[in-house]
Amino acid sequence: MMEQTPSFISPPLIPEDLRLPETLKLGVLASGSGSNFEAIAHSIAQGQLNAQIQVLIYNKPKAKARERAERLGIPAILLNHRHFRSREALDHEIVNTFKQHDVEWVIMAGWMRIVTPVLLDAYCDRVLNIHPSLLPSFPGVDGVEQALAAGVKVTGCTVHIAKEEVDSGPILMQAAVPILPDDTSETLHARIQVQEHLIFPRAIALAALQYSE
Ligand code: GRF
Repeated sequence: MMEQTPSFISPPLIPEDLRLPETLKLGVLASGSGSNFEAIAHSIAQGQLNAQIQVLIYNKPKAKARERAERLGIPAILLNHRHFRSREALDHEIVNTFKQHDVEWVIMAGWMRIVTPVLLDAYCDRVLNIHPSLLPSFPGVDGVEQALAAGVKVTGCTVHIAKEEVDSGPILMQAAVPILPDDTSETLHARIQVQEHLIFPRAIALAALQYSE
């Protein structure tokens, strides 16, 4: 009988290994639920991640992330992509907003827009993304569904430094999640998200430590 679903995080760092000398100033981009945004805020509140979320930018008026920001007392700004003539124009406004809020690191926590060099060059190697698969397998919008369709037995999540190509760039941290026989995309995504919430705050600290070396 199956007792539990094991998970595997690599590198297997604990928060104590990731103590940061300076408080990181984060700007978060979220399009949807914002559970990763809240997990990062929680990790900060627990004293596990020495950081502060300066501002949340969301692009969909009904994004649940906005409600979370309100509850957490974090400023939230709507930049509706439909009101911008190009991806670059949106990214210019994101950079302006982040600079106004003293943001040093950009955290894409379920940001469903393709980012351009306007953002990536303004925050060179300081834009992090999370994706619900073990990259480089299954990039793109439906990483969970792709893993199910491929019949792989293990998938997971990845935090990486964002580059221009979607879901590409140096990998910081991954967690493996077994696929169970009865999994649907919902049940699998829910278990992947548990791991996402564990690795994202740690990967942020790891990125900052690597960057300052
Ligand atoms: C996560 O599964 C993440 O990997 C993907 O989008 C989802 C965002 O979830 N990029 P949430 O909004 O943080 O709950």
